[in-house]
Amino acid sequence: MKKIIINGGRQLRGDISVSGMKNAALPIIFACILTEDKCTLENVPDVTDVNLSLKILEDMGAVVIRTGGGTITVDTKKLAGQTSRQDLVSRLRASTYLLGAELGRFGEAKVGFSGGCDFGVRPIDQHIKGFEALGAKAGVESGLNHVVAGPGGLRGGSVYLDIASVGATINVMLAAVKAEGRTTIDNAAREPHIVDLANFLNMCGARITGAGTSFIKITGVEKLHGCSYTIIPDMIEAGTYMVAAAAAGGRVRVKGVIPKHMETVTAKLIEMGAGVDEGDDCLTVSRSSRLSSVNIKTFFYPGFPTDMHPQFAALLAMADGTSIITEGVFDNRFRYADELAKMNADINVAGRTATIIGKKELCGAPVTAVDLRAGAALIIAGLAASGMTEISRIETIERGYDDIVGKLSGIGADIRLIDDGL
Ligand code: EPZ
Repeated sequence: MKKIIINGGRQLRGDISVSGMKNAALPIIFACILTEDKCTLENVPDVTDVNLSLKILEDMGAVVIRTGGGTITVDTKKLAGQTSRQDLVSRLRASTYLLGAELGRFGEAKVGFSGGCDFGVRPIDQHIKGFEALGAKAGVESGLNHVVAGPGGLRGGSVYLDIASVGATINVMLAAVKAEGRTTIDNAAREPHIVDLANFLNMCGARITGAGTSFIKITGVEKLHGCSYTIIPDMIEAGTYMVAAAAAGGRVRVKGVIPKHMETVTAKLIEMGAGVDEGDDCLTVSRSSRLSSVNIKTFFYPGFPTDMHPQFAALLAMADGTSIITEGVFDNRFRYADELAKMNADINVAGRTATIIGKKELCGAPVTAVDLRAGAALIIAGLAASGMTEISRIETIERGYDDIVGKLSGIGADIRLIDDGL
């Protein structure tokens, strides 16, 4: 079994570079299904979820070529139809995007139930609501989500999302870009990766306006052509390294970021007493004295990102005072708390709220990465804790972080990947 071993207590110093954003690359990879031309994608992170998505496309008949340095070409000219690899579909949440992409390409989609991090129920009722607004019929057949366009094909429609769901916004966009007529999405998600997907689709000839706002308009087009596109930097990976620097102390420049995407993370770190200096495409984080407690409420973008919740919980577990984190997006994103408690953190979870009483020091311990960002939180805690931390189930971390061990080693962390062969 692969494990991450960290000997804590060392300050971090130097430059660390951010890879392309996993949650932007995933919808863009599936969006390639919508055109029969070749697409070239740059700054694609080398993470498991991306590689699984590419394997699903190859199973469908796409030709994927990795030309190195994060550049891939995807040629979907000869797609044979829906994927048969439901075993891969069940391993990631982003496979839900196959519904919108297959519906947009073939007029029908049959996709198994997706997987991903376990935060309680993760329904797709808003996705279905969007497809039905385009005249499609949805149901479940033999364990597969089955969506089929109406007799005349998909036609534009209006949908109001009850929740500003990232996945639902993405899926409706994918289905609508070639639907007949105009589609509007009200209460749409505003995340940067929604804008990235819209930019990619518009580069392919789509007509999408309003991405990044709550109201997106799409005018259907006959056909999409291929394009070359560079994925935006990963704001959550960047935030994770910023919090790691604040936790371990020292001075770290996080490079290749879009500072505007990091505003809430930067604001909270400054509120806690860390130093954050902003450059054009970098943020330098420093910390010399003990940080102070703060309260955090996660919410849809531009609110504080839920995907930074566990990482800040680890940081607040060592802050001076009591902090409260209220989770505004998922039912249960607190599975990290039990693991941090093994490192002497004092975290009490009630409903959607965690009350964190800061300790002067955490202690290294054997812990388990129960989900992607919980795993990142354990790395952050291990970097600052006294003694050795051993993290198992690190495959969950490899789903969304490109070479996190190598990158942290490069700024002075005593961190390594082992395989004990068990
Ligand atoms: C995406 O998940 C991300 N995953 C998540 O990142 C991220 O936490 C989340 O957006 C919020 O930003 C990917 O991009 C692959 P939602 P998604 O639909 O699309 C409820 C990570 O760590 N909901 O915005 O599944 C849902 O249950 C991962 O990288 C419905 O009720 O998130 C949740 O409570 C974790 N019905 C809330 O909305 C629906 O039809 C937000 O979900 C859809 C969602």
